[in-house]
Amino acid sequence: MHKIILHGGNKLRGRVKINGAKNAALAILPAVLLASEKVTLHNVPDITDVRTMLRIIEDLGTTIRRRGRNTLEFYPSSLRGYAPPYNLVQKIRASSYLMGSLLARFGKATVPVPGGCDLGPRPIDQHLKGFTALGADCLIEHGLINLASGKLTGAHIYFDVVSVGATVNLMLAAAAAEGRTVLENVAKEPEIVDLANFLNAMGAVIKGAGTDVIKVDGVKEFGGAEHAIIPDRIEAGTFMLAVAATGGEVIVGGVIPKHLEAVTAKLREMGVEVEVEPEQIRVRREGPLVPSALKTFPYPGFPTDLQPLGMVLLAAAEGTSVVTENVFDGRFGHVDELEKMGARIKVEGRIAVIDGGAPLSGAPVSATDLRAGAALLVAGLIAQGETALSDAEHIYRGYENIEEKLASLGAQIKRLRAGDSSSLAGDPG
Ligand code: EPZ
Repeated sequence: MHKIILHGGNKLRGRVKINGAKNAALAILPAVLLASEKVTLHNVPDITDVRTMLRIIEDLGTTIRRRGRNTLEFYPSSLRGYAPPYNLVQKIRASSYLMGSLLARFGKATVPVPGGCDLGPRPIDQHLKGFTALGADCLIEHGLINLASGKLTGAHIYFDVVSVGATVNLMLAAAAAEGRTVLENVAKEPEIVDLANFLNAMGAVIKGAGTDVIKVDGVKEFGGAEHAIIPDRIEAGTFMLAVAATGGEVIVGGVIPKHLEAVTAKLREMGVEVEVEPEQIRVRREGPLVPSALKTFPYPGFPTDLQPLGMVLLAAAEGTSVVTENVFDGRFGHVDELEKMGARIKVEGRIAVIDGGAPLSGAPVSATDLRAGAALLVAGLIAQGETALSDAEHIYRGYENIEEKLASLGAQIKRLRAGDSSSLAGDPG
């Protein structure tokens, strides 16, 4: 179990370079299984969820060569099969994308039912509805989803719910289906557009990614491709919200500002200075934060993945703020932990009312999931005294070198390895 020790009170100052997007990489890696020639991917984040996905596609028979920390080459040697290893698939929900890519490659897929997690129920009914519409038979037994289709045939699919995962999965399967598939009421996240661009680079024919309707004309063969994964807007937003909380001035570099418009707008509303340049965003806060109402929505709305961090920021703003989580049923796992640090938050269903302004105090807290963990990191940066954050491995699922990045900006932060003392390097003691 990894632990991170933080001492709050320092303002963040300096520059941070953002890595490639976790949620684009996790959608693109299963798509590599369709390639008949070499694929090179740049800007792949070196995080545990990606490493798990790499082990899964390697286990399925792909040869992988690492050409640097964030550049990988894939040689689609003879793929061994359509049933990825249970122990690895269970570790990450994004392994559900293997259903779409293995169906497209083999016409068959056997994947464990993806586990739930601390965001509330995470059904996959829209995924299965889409696969069935394409002609696949679906049987769930003994915790496994067995999909089989003699041939995938294009269909007109209208999603009942805007789902990133279902949109990714059906783009993957439809890419190899015979004829045209029309997907409606789809997710419009930048990661969906990045996947479509990668698939098209391999020879797919996908139009409309990023809009409400995606049209896919299936092809029989996919070549190779070279592709650079887009920057991680959620990592970028994490650092923007962190410096807004601590005060100071940070340049968040290597980003696509358009992907962060909802975050920029909300920060400006809360009294934070945000200067947008072509590939970087400068965030500065010297004065008091202004309380606000934060509502999450599918892209281009405020991202649900930054809701926990937004809550920390609102807890630091003197006055009453309201958070409405419109995407997931149960994404308030971080509230109990923030209350241990003195935050005053009342939750009713999907709404949390924050009585902000009271200074937070450092405490022993635990990361319940990836983004809750990131929120507790930011809380520890502004709390008085020491915060010991346990279960920090959740954080390493989605952030590369986050302690080093925060320390380079002036944070007092240290990862504890088993047996380490809890004092921080340079800590006044
Ligand atoms: C993706 O999860 C992301 N994960 C999540 O990021 C992100 O929070 C989420 O999209 C929303 O943006 C990856 O990309 C790997 P959804 P996903 O399907 O695809 C309901 C992170 O921290 N739904 O868009 O699982 C569902 O219950 C992670 O990086 C159905 O009802 O999310 C939820 O309420 C956390 N039926 C809503 O849709 C379905 O078949 C949105 O879920 C599918 C989803």
